[in-house]
Amino acid sequence: MRNAYLVTAFIAVLLVSLLGFRETRFTSPPLDVFPEWAFPGMKRQSKPRPQGASRFFADGRADRPLPAGVVSRDELRNDDTLFAGKAADGSWLHGYPADIKVDATLMARGHERFSIYCQPCHGALGDGNGITKQYGMGATPTYHDPRLRDMAEGEIFNTITHGKGNMLSYADKIVPEDRWAVILYVRALQRAQTGTAADVPAAHKSELGIP
Ligand code: HEC
Repeated sequence: MRNAYLVTAFIAVLLVSLLGFRETRFTSPPLDVFPEWAFPGMKRQSKPRPQGASRFFADGRADRPLPAGVVSRDELRNDDTLFAGKAADGSWLHGYPADIKVDATLMARGHERFSIYCQPCHGALGDGNGITKQYGMGATPTYHDPRLRDMAEGEIFNTITHGKGNMLSYADKIVPEDRWAVILYVRALQRAQTGTAADVPAAHKSELGIP
């Protein structure tokens, strides 16, 4: 009998301690089994909290405004050739920045990025006949126009970065290194339309009946 009272009391205490204080907000710190003064460590530090108050700063805010001219690390674009397509004299760069390795890997990357971001409008052949034409996007130019064939790589970089007319900027979708890859692929598309018999490797000439 005595045990039954004890068990009931124990269960009651257990229930209250588990469920009774749910969602209660305490303002004082919880009881410390190993108090900071006795066991100094870094458990409790005075620190500013996001959007919190601070008595240290004159404006009373813990969040500090950024110092003037500060840029986030991935926005640090101090190389005008790589990030703006400009040559040393400020004109549009012809060719590719020194940091860009022009090889088959870059071409494959350019092909992939192009098919995602440019092909819908400019078409797989770069002739301006992308799928969007059927939906009313009529004014997409062909890359096989002499003006665009002769256009400096740097200027195409600028078009991808900032857009032009109805073409939006792709700066937030294609990182600078990939923009150069896309340009390389655009060049390949342009070159593909101006091939001559002289471009066919000797081993394949007979297949095509070229003397
Ligand atoms: C939403 C459709 C659309 C997409 C996607 C698109 N373009 Fe364009 N692009 C256009 C249109 C429209 C123009 C013509 C802009 C003008 O001259 O007003 C254009 C023009 C251009 C030009 C010529 C710029 C000039 O100076 O005349 C280049 C080069 C070009 N695009 C490259 C690209 C590349 C590379 C991509 C992919 C990263 C791309 N475009 C994606 C629609 C598009």
